[in-house]
Amino acid sequence: MNIPVRKFDAIIVGAGGAGLRAAIQLSEAGLKTAVLTKVFPTRSHTVAAQGGVAASLGNSEEDHWHWHMYDTVKGSDWLGDQDAIEYMCRKANEVVVELEHYGMPFDRLDNGRIYQRPFGGHMSNFGEKPVRRSCAAADRTGHAMLHAMYQRNIKVNTQFFVEWMALDLIRDAEGEVLGVTAMEMETGEVSMFHAKATIFATGGAGRIYYSSTNAFINTGDGLGMAARAGIPLEDMEFWQFHPTGVAGAGVLITEGVRGEGGILRNSDGERFMERYAPNAKDLASRDVVSRAMVTEINEGRGCGPNKDYVLLDITHLDPHTIMQRLPGIREISIQFAGIDPIKAPIPVVPTCHYQMGGIPTNYLGQVVAPKGGDASAAVPGFYAAGECACASVHGANRLGTNSLLDLLVFGKSAGETAVEELKKSPRAHKPLAMEQIDKSLARLGRLNQQKDGASVHETRLAMQRSMQKHCSVFRFNDLLKQGVKSILDIEQQVARTEIKDKSQVFNTARLEALELDNLIEVAKATMISAEARKESRGAHVRDDAIDNAATPNGRDDQNWLKHSLWYREGNRLDYKPVKMTPLTVETIALKKRAY
Ligand code: FUM
Repeated sequence: MNIPVRKFDAIIVGAGGAGLRAAIQLSEAGLKTAVLTKVFPTRSHTVAAQGGVAASLGNSEEDHWHWHMYDTVKGSDWLGDQDAIEYMCRKANEVVVELEHYGMPFDRLDNGRIYQRPFGGHMSNFGEKPVRRSCAAADRTGHAMLHAMYQRNIKVNTQFFVEWMALDLIRDAEGEVLGVTAMEMETGEVSMFHAKATIFATGGAGRIYYSSTNAFINTGDGLGMAARAGIPLEDMEFWQFHPTGVAGAGVLITEGVRGEGGILRNSDGERFMERYAPNAKDLASRDVVSRAMVTEINEGRGCGPNKDYVLLDITHLDPHTIMQRLPGIREISIQFAGIDPIKAPIPVVPTCHYQMGGIPTNYLGQVVAPKGGDASAAVPGFYAAGECACASVHGANRLGTNSLLDLLVFGKSAGETAVEELKKSPRAHKPLAMEQIDKSLARLGRLNQQKDGASVHETRLAMQRSMQKHCSVFRFNDLLKQGVKSILDIEQQVARTEIKDKSQVFNTARLEALELDNLIEVAKATMISAEARKESRGAHVRDDAIDNAATPNGRDDQNWLKHSLWYREGNRLDYKPVKMTPLTVETIALKKRAY
């Protein structure tokens, strides 16, 4: 078969914040750079990020990167790698100011500096009291960020392939990554994108769950491709449930609402977070707030006819503040809950929001996978950044606003490292062989031939319901065991999905089937890693690992202070140590986590 080959110095898969930031770095260095994206860049899921990007600018009150680092390590429940966390927190001011220079329309203080608001888990002076660290453009920060970075990319001549779906990684016999196969969505045409550097910035996979704040495009494409190419997925048991999704709709209501003074209340009107987090209250870390909400609901203090949500109250705020700082969430509340938050509280429930794990990387953005005796060997030619990657800065629980920071810092570092590597050893493209794309073609071929198979929609729904039931905010030993069986059964169904319409042109049924191939890899990695981790840590809280003197909050550092690595081949699990040594400062020592 004659497959077109398109050659670039670097290709980036994904045009959200991480992909756009990496592309700026590569294109500015004069490298021929292509970005492949399923949707127009400014519609990538970063657009949904509302409340801000963390940086210790200290514009409203004293702040310091070291305090930010402490909060991030504590928020991660000590599972984050301290070298990467130091790197990210130290770089924060630089990447935010760069963004400002690209034209990002941040809100301003009266003195002209960038406006900053408090966010959960961000504290001053090593955990003392909430600090204003989130740099915001009203409640549309991600939207503004994408526009600023897309414009910059146009200026530096990045080439965009819009409405293209990457199918599989191309690796040679030595394991070097040589690019990807991809399909143009309009025509169904498959091409090879041949590159010296390949960067994945494909975002998350929140669509493995039934109730999610994630866009429909968040189907873990990068994770599926990496797993099929033999690369392990790290810490996939850790999923963040954002406390405030609109009840029944799942749409995000930013934590910035609580940053501006919003309060969570139960059916008694009680500000219940005072009981769970006496110091930080409604601005405790997300895992803590989500569990508190579910506990209130489970103990009968939920609101509404079914007592199945709690209320987010901002009726005490000045309407002017709501219109100025939170215009988007007012719109969302009116449209999705039928409620004007100036007049009445918003019904909210914890909703799947963010994947802490992903493709293993170091803080330089290189993908790392154990090879021989080397636990952190870089995969030649392969980089990843943003939600699809696990650097690991979020560990077992991410702090709000650290995701936009992660994608800026590691998008930039992945781009920088790729530029350095290509300059250090300039070379021609390695030869490509047709056999290297056989697997992609076989997947497409199966979809064209499958008869009497399962429906993609029903299979995906079964997976989403299973994840929601077996592996949610609270986890139970029995349910996790059942969950593993259920997801492995559903995997069999995925291998037999059928698309009725076999035509090439704008075939969304085929795209959804290909996405499901990726989602199921993420679901398996999640369920199997979660069942195996016999402790409670951050967002992974199990009924059989509870608070006692030896295991504070159920966390078992003696046996489980380590990263999980799930391999697709044989559903094998392996582990690697957490990096407890930062780059320049002392280790942030283990202690019981409380807010
Ligand atoms: O609540 C929010 O605005 C979400 C921010 C984040 O996930 O970082």
